[in-house]
Amino acid sequence: MSPKILPGLATLVVTAFLFACGGGGESKPAGPPGASGEAPSAALGKSTAGLITAADISMGEIDQGMVEKGRGIYDVKCQACHSTGPNRVVGPGWKGITERRKPEWIMNMMLNIDVMLETDPEAQKGLEECLVRMPNQGLSKDDGRQVLEFMRTL
Ligand code: HEC
Repeated sequence: MSPKILPGLATLVVTAFLFACGGGGESKPAGPPGASGEAPSAALGKSTAGLITAADISMGEIDQGMVEKGRGIYDVKCQACHSTGPNRVVGPGWKGITERRKPEWIMNMMLNIDVMLETDPEAQKGLEECLVRMPNQGLSKDDGRQVLEFMRTL
């Protein structure tokens, strides 16, 4: 007595996946996020107008005053979901974030999350992996820039 066992099931189960949600090291050395974003958004007919571009951000030596202000914002508004280490809380950990993400991409995730989730493939991937939409935190551009400065120290 050996009825055929559904052969497909066993293989399906193997596809269990354990995403780290962008945790420590992004393993893909391929193009930095942001560089690939333009074409798909145009194809979707969604507007990326108003997004921050590289030209909007100037970065020199790390400015400790800004770092401290950025840390203060992090403590109040971001800490619940982001660690400063490699580990995910709700969203990805921030350790090394400025090495794997472009500054303008980071700024847009902070300031224009809704547009990013509509148009940017990397932002959409983050949502798939974390299963939570990053809520708009209502930061000003200066706030965002200070948090970016803080991130540079992580
Ligand atoms: C309620 C939880 C929550 C809070 C609060 C939150 N975030 Fe997020 N954040 C997320 C989630 C979830 C993602 C991943 C979603 C995605 O990539 O689409 C994310 C992604 C990000 C990313 C992209 C990270 C990466 O490497 O992909 C940045 C940058 C970011 N958040 C900045 C901030 C800042 C700055 C604050 C505070 C001002 C903040 N977040 C507050 C949940 C949160």
